[in-house]
Amino acid sequence: MNAPAKTDEFAVQNPAQGTAKIPDGVYAETVLAVEHYTDRLFRFRMTRPAGFRFRSGEFAMIGLMVGDKPVYRAYSVASPAWDEELEFFSIKVPDGPLTSHLQKIKPGDTVLMRKKPTGTLVLDALTPGKRLYMFSTGTGIAPFASLIRDPETYEKFDEVILTHTCREVAELKYGFDLVEEIKNHEFLAEIVGDKLKHYPTVTRDASYPYRGRITDLIENGKLFSDLGVPPLDPAVDRGMICGSAAMLKDTKDLLEKAGLVEGSNNKPGEFVIERAFVG
Ligand code: A2P
Repeated sequence: MNAPAKTDEFAVQNPAQGTAKIPDGVYAETVLAVEHYTDRLFRFRMTRPAGFRFRSGEFAMIGLMVGDKPVYRAYSVASPAWDEELEFFSIKVPDGPLTSHLQKIKPGDTVLMRKKPTGTLVLDALTPGKRLYMFSTGTGIAPFASLIRDPETYEKFDEVILTHTCREVAELKYGFDLVEEIKNHEFLAEIVGDKLKHYPTVTRDASYPYRGRITDLIENGKLFSDLGVPPLDPAVDRGMICGSAAMLKDTKDLLEKAGLVEGSNNKPGEFVIERAFVG
């Protein structure tokens, strides 16, 4: 583990960005690894400051100095709370104020992170249940990448169903890698056992057998018949949703139709939504 950065005392030395003074209240961390999945998606790992505490599923503001100004966007921490490093899964937007720069980071570069994490996709915001659905599209899988690697998720639920819908098969790879990592992990493998079910689908790729928007698959019941589970039941089922604004709304409507009530940190409920990433 690298020593935590004392952010106020030194300047960022990043070949891509020149040298600039770090703002107050911000950690400056070192990139450890970068993996590009497609021309739209990549993940990176960086050092974790010793003082940075978060709950699995929360997000933080991640940034870079662009010229002499910091630019931040909300990013779910994709690594679990116990991990010594921090992982993030990101989209690449060609003209994006942050991601057009972030997609070029290399090991050794500096990434900024505001000190306070927050978010509603946390186990504390759900009332007790038996089966936890995590509904994600695209990079919305990131908070669930954290939660499916947290033993507490499996202490609280007998069954954890991670749905991930993307346009194309190549965009599902991060999810497949996560599940594989868990299966081979020294202590997670035993804790998770067969409790985790991964349900990936695509919407614009005829080469893959599992197709369709998750909303359609809930509505027509295919999700449940494929998994061999009963339809949504507020007595036992809990949900977490992370995706685009339209996906959040449509999925929320279906859960409400099934009788589940939305919760929050202050008032735990039967499902939760992360609204931080949408305008
Ligand atoms: P589709 O290809 O039918 O638009 P994006 O990359 O645009 O964020 O989309 C990621 C995935 O989310 C795509 O598979 C997309 O399907 C799906 N999606 C987009 N809008 C919705 C919605 N309102 N409800 C459910 N899934 C959606």
